[in-house]
Amino acid sequence: MGRGVVLALMLCLLGVTVYGEDPYIYYTWNVTYGTISPLGTPQQVILINNQFPGPEINSTSNNNVVVNVFNNIDEPLLFTWHGIQQRKNSWQEGTPGTSCPILPGTNYTYHFQVKDQIGSYFYYPTTGLQRASGGFGGLRIFSRLLIPVPYADPEDEYWVIIGDWYGKSHKTLKMELDSGRSIGRPNTVLMNGKNAKGDGSDEPLYTMKPGKTYKYRICNVGLKDALNFRFQGHTLKLVETEGSHVVQNNYESLDVHVGQCYTVLVTADKEPKDYYMIASTRFTKYNLIGKGIVRYTNGAGPASPVLPPAPVGWAWSLNQFRSFRWNLTASAARPINITRTIKLVNSNAKVDGKLRYAINGVSHVDGETPFKLAEYYGVEDKVFKYDLISDEPSADHKAITIAPNVINATYRNFIEIIFENPGKVVQSYNLGGYSFFAVAGEPGKWTPEKRKNYNLLDAISRHTIQVFPKSWAAIMLTFDNAGMWNLRSEHGENRYLGQQLYISIQSPELSLRDEYNLPETQLVCGIVKDMPKPAPKYT
Ligand SMILES: *[C@@H]1O[C@H](CO)[C@@H](O)[C@H](O)[C@H]1NC(C)=O
Ligand SMILES: *[C@@H]1O[C@H](CO)[C@@H](O)[C@H](O)[C@H]1NC(C)=O
Ligand SMILES: *[C@@H]1O[C@H](CO)[C@@H](O)[C@H](O)[C@H]1NC(C)=O
Ligand SMILES: *[C@@H]1O[C@H](CO)[C@@H](O)[C@H](O)[C@H]1NC(C)=O
Ligand SMILES: *[C@@H]1O[C@H](CO)[C@@H](O)[C@H](O)[C@H]1NC(C)=O
Ligand SMILES: *[C@@H]1O[C@H](CO)[C@@H](O)[C@H](O)[C@H]1NC(C)=O
Repeated sequence: MGRGVVLALMLCLLGVTVYGEDPYIYYTWNVTYGTISPLGTPQQVILINNQFPGPEINSTSNNNVVVNVFNNIDEPLLFTWHGIQQRKNSWQEGTPGTSCPILPGTNYTYHFQVKDQIGSYFYYPTTGLQRASGGFGGLRIFSRLLIPVPYADPEDEYWVIIGDWYGKSHKTLKMELDSGRSIGRPNTVLMNGKNAKGDGSDEPLYTMKPGKTYKYRICNVGLKDALNFRFQGHTLKLVETEGSHVVQNNYESLDVHVGQCYTVLVTADKEPKDYYMIASTRFTKYNLIGKGIVRYTNGAGPASPVLPPAPVGWAWSLNQFRSFRWNLTASAARPINITRTIKLVNSNAKVDGKLRYAINGVSHVDGETPFKLAEYYGVEDKVFKYDLISDEPSADHKAITIAPNVINATYRNFIEIIFENPGKVVQSYNLGGYSFFAVAGEPGKWTPEKRKNYNLLDAISRHTIQVFPKSWAAIMLTFDNAGMWNLRSEHGENRYLGQQLYISIQSPELSLRDEYNLPETQLVCGIVKDMPKPAPKYT
């Protein structure tokens, strides 16, 4: 280590910003089990620094974020930074295919940069079904001071972390899936870890001063249910979605699919009293409702027990999806030539009597050795095979093979991915390392002629997209972020039982400009654990 580097490191440790380098922000997390009773009876949850949901990460574009995680639960632990692009750096992505888990009783320090991004995101644990027990929290990225934001500074900002919730622990739910069954329906919907009882005993989650405007950052961290979010008596002015400033439409309510985030402005211009924020399940036979109270500071009186109704049917949701438009005043040129079309069809079936989910007939399993490490050490042929699936799934994709599902892609190709959902349940997909243009969604099957219906003008760029029942959705992106990236169902059961894959994008030039070498502090495990570290691959 050169003297300059040591000095920079010392200054960083002292909290001093190093000139010429982007600022650092530091967090220390103690991850433990704790007890809460959102359903009235005590249950075990995952806490971070004694909090549920976990503490927010509060950053500004280009900050270097350093999170020293102490694993004090009894299971291996990995955190992913949902929607953070980790440019050149899938090492910090925190999915089982990229990184080795933090073992119980040990600590590990994540180091990543929130490069050129703004907006509302969240983090969560990716091992097993841990997200069912907590360990999630908000991650916000402010614009840098000199970059204009297309709305006035709000009076304050509030997180609204919503999600369906089970009375059973992540371990019990995992056992159910391991035994071949489904986890069934959730028991409630939580908002910031609670659900207002509505009996006059609830403390408000937040307060608003009359006449002022507040920013609410809403993320669905649940396991399976899309949630409709609404704010009694108030409209929601949408300003940002997963990193894109959008055309600022007003909405009565927003469908927030699993893994999605929306940032809205709400003005306190109504009768001063309490109001409910509501998150209720969509497209389900059951109707679970989560509530939280917001109080006017000059308020007198409880919230009305009459809740605004949720919209009905999924056509409404599809129309809302199409109404999200990019604010073109901040837009960039768009490449138009597609170099590869990948069509991904989900399915599920019993394999040896046990429920599995698949993409193009392959139900993904992780191994002891993360694929990214295996590739770096040059032993990938001992761990997985590339391209078990093809870009055009065969008609018999209902026959499911269980294997690591890793596809190989060419750096900088401009890609179209079609998600086709032949099933009756709405799907939600996230792609790590990227945001993509969500250009279309329609009922029925995709054909190349559908391309003429794509919104190539002002579709928003985002990281998670829903696919409605018996429908398809199309996304477009350039594979310009080298690394190993996880494309996954956001639904916990589907993901755990195989509805995910990895995309390996290697820069042919093996240049440090395109990808970082194995970090000094990276955990190693599986078959590479005792192998000598390879010489730096990128120069
Ligand atoms: C983490 O929390 C546990 C339980 O409260 C405590 O025993 C432990 O000392 C804490 N560890 C650190 C590193 O703060
Ligand atoms: C979050 O960061 C912003 C911008 O740096 C700062 O103004 C604000 O005080 C921070 N909030 C918290 C809770 O740390
Ligand atoms: C573990 O925490 C200690 C104390 O904060 C720190 O010095 C060390 O670098 C951490 N270890 C890892 C692997 O991050
Ligand atoms: C788009 O953003 C600009 C500033 O960047 C803002 O003035 C304008 O109101 C926004 N337009 C819409 C339709 O939201
Ligand atoms: C797209 O391809 C056509 C034909 O190969 C070519 O003429 C055109 O320049 C390409 N456009 C872009 C944006 O690359
Ligand atoms: C992956 O794709 C690249 C570019 O098309 C190709 O050069 C490479 O041989 C492929 N690797 C494997 C293992 O298929």
